[in-house]
Amino acid sequence: MGMKLAVFASGTGSNFDAIMKAVKNGTLEADVSLLVCDKIEASVVKKAQQHLIDTVVFNPKCYESKAAYEEVLLKDLQSRGIDYVILAGFMRLIGPTLLEAYEHRIVNIHPSLLPAFPGKDAIGQALEKNVKVTGVTVHFVDNGMDTGPIIDQEAVRVEEGDTREAVQKKIQQVEHKLYPRVIQSLPVKEESL
Ligand code: GAR
Repeated sequence: MGMKLAVFASGTGSNFDAIMKAVKNGTLEADVSLLVCDKIEASVVKKAQQHLIDTVVFNPKCYESKAAYEEVLLKDLQSRGIDYVILAGFMRLIGPTLLEAYEHRIVNIHPSLLPAFPGKDAIGQALEKNVKVTGVTVHFVDNGMDTGPIIDQEAVRVEEGDTREAVQKKIQQVEHKLYPRVIQSLPVKEESL
């Protein structure tokens, strides 16, 4: 069955969908055990229900601190034997509680060629600078903002006159192929072999 994944997402969930498709067609040998979302109204929650994936939705405002909600999430991840946390459009920084427990086992996808354009609205930042090439980065998460060790990257060309939507579409097409492939390449822990 391969490794056990928890996907963390805050938005549309097109990367979550791509991961689920790859699991279903057998190109990604993994079990998506859990979807974690910090926004009740996010479309990714409906997508997880359609795929019959257990879902935890939490409201960060209901907790005293990041450490408080991460403690709760960590217990859930550990009780399910989750090997990797996959961030797919999760718009919150991960704190020390999860980082220490899941060192080198939290992965993020970011819509730029890091270290260029970290943080929010990477596509907008790239268009602002008039770059001719941008792209997608998959990296391990550390305590910085999009700074952890890079696992893989793929470039996307920005053509003259491309709208924001056009660039976003090209980036997402790349993301949906790259992310499942990179996840499949992650080392499997010895205990779960
Ligand atoms: C993706 O393009 C992902 O790279 C980006 O959010 C989008 C989520 O789309 N992530 C970041 O910007 C992280 N800083 P999705 O909900 O359709 O998968």
